[in-house]
Amino acid sequence: MRRILLVLAAAAAVVVAVAGAEPVLRQVTDVPTAVSWGVSDADALFCDSWRLSVETANAGPWRTVPARCGASVRAYMEGERYASDSAVAAAESLAFAAQALASGEGGAMPAWVFDVDETLLSNAPYYAVSGWGLQEFNETSFDAWVDVAKAPALPSSLKLYNELQGLGFHIILLTGRSELQRNATEDNLLFAGYNSWEKLILRRISDIGKTAVQYKSERRAAMEAEGFKILGNSGDQWSDLIGLPMATRSFKLPNPMYFIS
Ligand SMILES: *[C@@H]1O[C@H](CO)[C@@H](O)[C@H](O)[C@H]1NC(C)=O
Ligand SMILES: *[C@@H]1O[C@H](CO)[C@@H](O)[C@H](O)[C@H]1NC(C)=O
Repeated sequence: MRRILLVLAAAAAVVVAVAGAEPVLRQVTDVPTAVSWGVSDADALFCDSWRLSVETANAGPWRTVPARCGASVRAYMEGERYASDSAVAAAESLAFAAQALASGEGGAMPAWVFDVDETLLSNAPYYAVSGWGLQEFNETSFDAWVDVAKAPALPSSLKLYNELQGLGFHIILLTGRSELQRNATEDNLLFAGYNSWEKLILRRISDIGKTAVQYKSERRAAMEAEGFKILGNSGDQWSDLIGLPMATRSFKLPNPMYFIS
């Protein structure tokens, strides 16, 4: 009965809006229920909000996906939404890139920095068999997966990568993977369809113990010292993007499966 009333109320609101009699403001309820937001269950509602919190960095450091969100993260990653969110971010990236180059912002050496995992490459096949982030990160099993070197490309990133190369960008890959994983990483990038990157930068022994923010910031500073103008940076973690120097524009790709500080 309550549901029917809500539907009727919503229909009435639409009629009012269409008639233009008065502006219709959607009420924000104190205790949003799944039904009031048109979502079929409370977990889906909570987990959608949790995911937004993760993407906006409101969530801060976290170690595992909340237990009630396992199914939701899986559905997101396997469904159209992840592909769509990634593709829209890639389209925004390309629009900025073309405009920035056209206005001469890139100088002689315009560069674009890409992270690798969950940015150029998708580890979804690994996470599909290890709980979609419900379990804590297992370095042993993840490293074994890296050595297999068969992670597919994130399709929208491969497209953007090729488009940026076509525009004349220097493409620099900056990953938290270890220098010991260089061969496997190169093999995997080629397997996934990536070619002709300018540099692939991995963590050296001297980088062990640094946060991703510190390590990646230091490497971006080195790029600038070499004369690159970093117009864009694409990564699935805020730690790929923040810290000085930053790119002119940073593009955050979705990742509800894990957090790296
Ligand atoms: C991590 O993965 C390895 C290899 O698959 C496995 O032997 C080990 O038990 C895992 N560790 C944890 C804490 O799950
Ligand atoms: C990487 O591959 C090169 C040859 O392409 C080889 O000489 C080197 O030993 C390999 N490194 C590792 C860590 O496997």
